[in-house]
Amino acid sequence: MIHADLIMVNAGELVTLTGSPVPHRGPDCRKLSIIKNDGALACRAGTVVWTGSTSDLLREVTALPGAVEYDLEGRLITPGFVDSHTHPIYAGTRQKEFALRAEGADYEEIAAAGGGILNSVRRTRQASVNLLEQTMRGHLETMLMFGTTTAEVKSGYGLDLETEIRSLEAAASVAGQTPMTLVCTFLGAHEVPAEFAGRADEYIDHLIASVLPAVRERGLAEYVDIFCEKNVFTPAQARRYLSAAKRMGFRLRIHADEFHDTGGTAIAVELGADSADHLLSISDKNISLIAESNTIATLLPGTAFFLGKPYPPARKLIDAGAAVAIATDLNPGSCFCESMPFMVNLAVCQCGFTIEEALTAATVNGAAAIGMADRKGRLAPGMDADMIVWDLDDHRAIAYHIAVPDIREVFVSGCPVSGSAGGDCSS
Ligand code: NIG
Ligand code: FE
Repeated sequence: MIHADLIMVNAGELVTLTGSPVPHRGPDCRKLSIIKNDGALACRAGTVVWTGSTSDLLREVTALPGAVEYDLEGRLITPGFVDSHTHPIYAGTRQKEFALRAEGADYEEIAAAGGGILNSVRRTRQASVNLLEQTMRGHLETMLMFGTTTAEVKSGYGLDLETEIRSLEAAASVAGQTPMTLVCTFLGAHEVPAEFAGRADEYIDHLIASVLPAVRERGLAEYVDIFCEKNVFTPAQARRYLSAAKRMGFRLRIHADEFHDTGGTAIAVELGADSADHLLSISDKNISLIAESNTIATLLPGTAFFLGKPYPPARKLIDAGAAVAIATDLNPGSCFCESMPFMVNLAVCQCGFTIEEALTAATVNGAAAIGMADRKGRLAPGMDADMIVWDLDDHRAIAYHIAVPDIREVFVSGCPVSGSAGGDCSS
């Protein structure tokens, strides 16, 4: 007999995402492994211990004294979303640049004129750790309300030792306060800072010699990322930098082939990065390359939407057999949005995903992109009890209802979090 302190019965659909190898690829991305009509789930100490039908649960699971029982009354329950690419640690917003873009200016032109990332860097360097924490906490609260229970968070608006460390320390402090699970990435190679203008190689040397060791020593980031893009860092610089980071024990990810096909994806595959992200301009050759590799292709449809750029070639990637994730890219410049449900809407309506492929990309494959697929993104015994109870009875309605998160309750480690920073697990 299995003992549980949290029991959920009578789900209209219990989406488990089990039954296929992780990450899910090709036709497996369309299999959500749904228990229909009478789904039930049991958890103990924040971990799923049993899934099945409500009638089997009554025979196989015993409620511990004080256990909480929910009757889902036919509702849909899914794993919490995994947002595997966000930039929530910065100061100051960029609505002025947004207004300029609305009047016809181009994102890359604004950046070349000293705006863009460097605009946020100037503000972030002046910000206290408290302000950085406050901004980040605000974003995380919205993410939770929209069903994100695990997120990757990047630094990258400091670009000097002191501010990058302050940013990562702010993230560590917020990680200790939020019920969400966070994975930190050092993105000191987000842009060439003004003091190194025209000397990108020297900035990379400085990052390798001084900043990466400081981040490593303090244990502030698991991943290292670089923006490999025309007029930012070249593939050769990305290779040199990420190779050094790998030797120091960091795991790798890369902003690749976003506005131009510079070949960042090939560097990701060559170095065994966990994820290559953006890929709006990825070549057919690199689609084949990433499809044959263990690197996840992380697509950020909100960025193409926000910048008015063509969407990434999702259909080609999925059909080639790549493991595809979707994430928000939440940041103040190129996608000011915390909503994973909206990314699912965009993936389906604009990028050619089926609904099931989009939900797979937003959960289990997102977890694989941050090395957490053994705990996150699926509902099966041994997985963390992070889940969304929807005011819906059919998973297809998540993609169908545009930009409205029909969420009744979000659970993290078996506790309801109700869009706030705190859970109620005392009862
Ligand atoms: O992922 N591409 C590079 N970095 C961010 C944009 C950051 C910004 O504009 O502030 C991105 O889209
Ligand atoms: Fe990004």
